[in-house]
Amino acid sequence: MCGIVGYVGDKKKTVNVLLDGLTRLEYRGYDSSGIALMEGGRPRVFRSTGKLSNLKKKIGKHPLEGLLGIGHTRWATHGDATEKNAHPHISGGTSVVHNGIIENFSLLKDELIKKGYKFYSDTDTEVLAHLIESCCAPGISFEDSVRAAFRRVEGSYAVAVISDRMPEKVIATRKFSPLIVALGDHENYLASDVPAILPYCRNVIFLEDGDVAVLEKNGISITDLYGDPVERNVQVINWDPVSVEKCGYRHFMIKEIHEQPEAVLDTMRGRFSEETGEVFFEGLDGSAYEDVNRITALACGTSYHASLIGKYMIETIARVPVQVEIASEFRYRNPILDKNTLAIAVSQSGETADTSEALFEAKAGGAKTLGITNVLMSKISRDADKVIYTHAGPEIGVASTKAFTTQLVVFYLLAVYLGSVKQQIDKERSIGLIRDAIRLPQLIQMTLRLDDEIKDLAKEFFHYRNFLYLGRGINYPVAFEGALKLKEVSYIHAEGYAAGEMKHGPIALIDDEMPVVVIAPKDGITYRKILGNLQEVRARRGKVIFLTSDMPPEELKGSVDRVIVIPGSNYLLSPVLSVIPLQLLAYHIAVLKGTDVDQPRNLAKVVTVE
Ligand code: G6P
Repeated sequence: MCGIVGYVGDKKKTVNVLLDGLTRLEYRGYDSSGIALMEGGRPRVFRSTGKLSNLKKKIGKHPLEGLLGIGHTRWATHGDATEKNAHPHISGGTSVVHNGIIENFSLLKDELIKKGYKFYSDTDTEVLAHLIESCCAPGISFEDSVRAAFRRVEGSYAVAVISDRMPEKVIATRKFSPLIVALGDHENYLASDVPAILPYCRNVIFLEDGDVAVLEKNGISITDLYGDPVERNVQVINWDPVSVEKCGYRHFMIKEIHEQPEAVLDTMRGRFSEETGEVFFEGLDGSAYEDVNRITALACGTSYHASLIGKYMIETIARVPVQVEIASEFRYRNPILDKNTLAIAVSQSGETADTSEALFEAKAGGAKTLGITNVLMSKISRDADKVIYTHAGPEIGVASTKAFTTQLVVFYLLAVYLGSVKQQIDKERSIGLIRDAIRLPQLIQMTLRLDDEIKDLAKEFFHYRNFLYLGRGINYPVAFEGALKLKEVSYIHAEGYAAGEMKHGPIALIDDEMPVVVIAPKDGITYRKILGNLQEVRARRGKVIFLTSDMPPEELKGSVDRVIVIPGSNYLLSPVLSVIPLQLLAYHIAVLKGTDVDQPRNLAKVVTVE
């Protein structure tokens, strides 16, 4: 979950490329940061705790002129978020930055201490620096020493190394953690993720596990851990660089909330025919799913909430039973799987360790596998048998917004796809469902017009210390997602509940200090029921924010404190709209509370540890 960058070349100022790349990767972790620049044949290292701005201040006006360097932004795993634990870690003239966890670090550390190496940090990464140094010997190239060192390392890593033993090159290697190299014109880059290099070049190689890349000004060579050359394709990335800029918005989160009409449109583009009612996913063959009689969705966080909604969509349209599993739980409970099970791993980043490992568990159990991810060539997209990409574009805000709504759209289209494969829906129904989806971007646009109204609402409610979110039917997982957004960015305690469950416990919490957000788009199925639950809240003096797609009926006048009205839509698509006011509410409350909206405390966008 840490971020790594590297540069070699004389066309740009290395320090600027490193700091700029780290700025774009800061969403991956922000406990500390650091850079190492090769100057006069030796790495010069700067490190600082906290946000990248602290490192920038520290570097200040130091005239740094090196032609290559590496940088790191950290999300702490082994060792506190202190300066001594910040990367790069050093051994002699070798500097190392690392993302991941070295599982055999204690064993290696003991061995290196016996050999006389001194450790200054509490991290597992420092082991790598000393291990590389210990593998250096006369007659062995530095590249070979690095390869020899990593043949001994167990765990997950994306690593970049520079050394006075090899002052014109940067070495990079990976296993189970993402790392890309990018080819420029007489300059080359490396990074954990595409956004870091997007303003500079588009020709990218996604390194694979066990690859060792050697970057020089005029080229990149890639071998395996034994030095045998490997061929990797260059992919041209077509993301727009402005997609990783704030473009006048105060935060990425609010920019990404407002990008949802386009993100949803991009996710649907080219994936159906309104005339025939067919849905297409590149690389998917419907006949492979004819014998699927059970679906297991595996996910964490916001992706888990999207999967809970996906369950309603698939079960309603395709009539295939869907189980939704928290990925970290699924792995350790000997799940029942077979070849008629389709396991769907849902992950914005495609790198979440728990989801990725759950996917392996599903594979091992003989299930067919499918990934739904937003990141091209990410781990899950490569490990699953098939992948469907959400085309949300880069999501930088740590709290997920547009990735969520695009995941919902993929689930909806997948439901229609499977509905046809399983002959549960005819052409006419399919066309109807597709037409409902086509209206979505416009309906989202209309929902976003609530922004100012929600900002006012936030002013009225931001001082409360607890919130309850209630939903029913397909909008019950939206209650979870609304509560999660508020917790993540405003640090206010919030709970999501199925409205019908409230009377079984949470009702005890309700008094005039408890705002209750009731999510009740008109659906003709559970709407009347939720009105009943609302009365239960009012009878206990709870403050009600009522979100509906129609004005509340006369009898409710005076029973709710505030009403938010979203546009009406197909019931199955209503969560795509109902979640938007909740994203906005969390955002505006966080701004009023003065929290760090895009990088909330203790969180990271990509969680590559269990
Ligand atoms: C982290 C992020 C969440 C995200 C979750 C799952 O906790 O902070 O926003 O929902 O990981 O991430 P994924 O990339 O697998 O969807």
